[in-house]
Amino acid sequence: MATASEALTTAPTTLLEVRDLHVEFRTRDGVAKAVNGVDYAVRAGETLAVLGESGSGKSVTAQAVMGILDTPPGKITAGEVLFQGRDLLKLKEDERRKVRGAGMAMIFQDALSSLNPVLSVGDQLAEMYVVHRGMSKKDARAKAIELMDRVRIPPPASASASTPTSSAAACASAS
Ligand SMILES: Nc1ncnc2c1ncn2[C@@H]1O[C@H](COP(=O)(O)OP(=O)(O)O)[C@@H](O)[C@H]1O
Ligand SMILES: [Mg+2]
Repeated sequence: MATASEALTTAPTTLLEVRDLHVEFRTRDGVAKAVNGVDYAVRAGETLAVLGESGSGKSVTAQAVMGILDTPPGKITAGEVLFQGRDLLKLKEDERRKVRGAGMAMIFQDALSSLNPVLSVGDQLAEMYVVHRGMSKKDARAKAIELMDRVRIPPPASASASTPTSSAAACASAS
């Protein structure tokens, strides 16, 4: 039989726990209750897929968890978002920003509209290393190229210097 201390060391850590999350949008046309009591827990190394019809609240839940909900009109009216045991909803915006990017990230559905169209892909990837790892711009750019190389975006150095639109076109023509 496992002792209590063995159970503690072998149980996978819960990384993210969403409890009873409620989000609504207050618009001129009335209140839209978009998320009504969502609960889930994700342990380290686990993948969770959330399925639902269009408009059922998947994106709004993710935005609330990430702290990027448009407020107003959106408002988190109840719930907790525990990341590594800390309730993110109680953090100040600057503390929240430190978690975002370093601890959690979101890959948007439509990369073309979520990346800045006038900045190079490499600079946008490098920004994360400058902000969260304190790297110099030069090192961060090299790291961005290395990342693009790792996911086989051809050829990484010039793809890194191009803007998202031309880079997506290059990837499409290469695949
Ligand atoms: N800015 C907004 N103003 C009003 N309602 C919104 C806004 N954004 C999302 N909603 C509403 O929230 C609900 C959930 O949307 P969403 O999370 O985008 O759904 P999906 O599951 O397709 O990702 C929808 O009914 C949508 O109309
Ligand atoms: Mg969506």
